[in-house]
Amino acid sequence: MLYPLPVVMVSVADESGKTNIITIAWAGTVCTNPPMVSISVRPERYSYPILQRTREFVINLTTRELVYAADYCGVKSGRDVDKFAALGLTAVAAEKVKAPLIGESPVNLECQVKQVQRLGSHDLFLAEVAAVHADQRYMDAHHKFHLEQAEPVVYSHGAYLLCGEQLGTFGYSVRRRPERKRT
Ligand SMILES: Cc1cc2nc3c(=O)[nH]c(=O)nc-3n(C[C@H](O)[C@H](O)[C@H](O)COP(=O)(O)O)c2cc1C
Repeated sequence: MLYPLPVVMVSVADESGKTNIITIAWAGTVCTNPPMVSISVRPERYSYPILQRTREFVINLTTRELVYAADYCGVKSGRDVDKFAALGLTAVAAEKVKAPLIGESPVNLECQVKQVQRLGSHDLFLAEVAAVHADQRYMDAHHKFHLEQAEPVVYSHGAYLLCGEQLGTFGYSVRRRPERKRT
């Protein structure tokens, strides 16, 4: 019942260089310094032993443009299909890990696994973010990144949803409002 969540496309590569993408909703930011994230993966996934052995993956954010691909990567297995090829996605070489970035995604986080925690149905992969890539198309002149322009998608109770209108910004509840001009 903890929804909405980001729905991310996690790319991996095995030792022979064969790539795969698994869609993950059980993902989150867990630490700022060092920058760490987590993903929870069921051991029966094709991607699971690749993650276990290589201890590397890339988190790629999902957008309106990528939502069909995200769903496909969440219902098809790399055992049966080359998902990059089937979807016409671009595998871009990463800097710090062997897993590829998805070129069409506006934000890619290169991750190195630090711990694997057995939980039950899923295992938790705790990873440090070794590099971040943000599409310059969404960067303004003041180096502020406008992810909203990429139309990010969240996942809630089985549905993919676009993020809606902005209601405030961090700390706005305690910021002093500009004084009204008296006439
Ligand atoms: C929206 C969505 C979210 C998902 N979240 C997870 C998840 O957090 N963990 C997981 O193990 N599988 C999750 N899955 C299922 C896998 O993505 C799916 O089983 C996929 O086919 C596995 O790919 P693979 O066999 O190529 O590794 C999710 C699927 C969808 C559609």
